[in-house]
Amino acid sequence: MSQIISIANQKGGVGKSTIAFNLGVALANSKHTVFVVDADPQGTVSMWAKARTRHESNKINPNITFTENPWTPEEILKLAQPPDYEFIIIDCGPANNKAAKATLVVSDLTIIPISPSPLDINSARSTIELIEEGASRGATKSKIYLLISKKIVGTNLAKEARDTCEMLKLPILKTEISQRIALCESAITGQSVLEYAPNSMAAEEFIALEKEVKKCLKQS
Ligand SMILES: Nc1ncnc2c1ncn2[C@@H]1O[C@H](COP(=O)(O)OP(=O)(O)OP(=O)(O)O)[C@@H](O)[C@H]1O
Ligand SMILES: [Mg+2]
Repeated sequence: MSQIISIANQKGGVGKSTIAFNLGVALANSKHTVFVVDADPQGTVSMWAKARTRHESNKINPNITFTENPWTPEEILKLAQPPDYEFIIIDCGPANNKAAKATLVVSDLTIIPISPSPLDINSARSTIELIEEGASRGATKSKIYLLISKKIVGTNLAKEARDTCEMLKLPILKTEISQRIALCESAITGQSVLEYAPNSMAAEEFIALEKEVKKCLKQS
């Protein structure tokens, strides 16, 4: 049975697609089969997937497959009948309530990336309310974790963000994803940072995230 992980935050630009894509490849590098669903009408992840086809196959991990185009909420709901992958990652778009609600119904784990600015943290509240409302109706069984994303190295913002996140009363992943140029460069090439710069700090962070996510899924 597939484990379904969604990356959601109705706030735009917090790093959802970057995390979905790179976490997917990190899982594939650990020999898992991974399917990434693009649930964002902007089609960010589908575009990256198309860019990947330009690479020789030995430069990209073949264990990961992407939807060719963004899926509709109806298609997402059909995921409840699991296809043959160990992990399914769903990249949600910003402010797309219907797709986000469908995603919550099928997810085992929802990761909410938060960029460390007080305004961004505050805007995660609407996503959390959406999840809590789904949980109160019995419409989701998803575990929920916050993830510090686009942390600016050498600043105290991530620490302050952690303190603020505590008020949201949700667990925060230990791993933090920093703002790194290698992540932008790798996206341009259609590779993950693990393929583009395997020895980089950015790659290390995604390897740590992959391990922590698997641990969260195992916890009852
Ligand atoms: N950790 C990071 N380091 C450097 N750049 C990043 C990082 N995460 C995301 N970015 C850049 O920030 C921009 C937005 O990232 P991304 O598309 O992943 O966000 P998103 O939350 O999926 O946005 P949207 O809400 O529009 O779907 C992109 O240009 C991406 O390359
Ligand atoms: Mg996106």
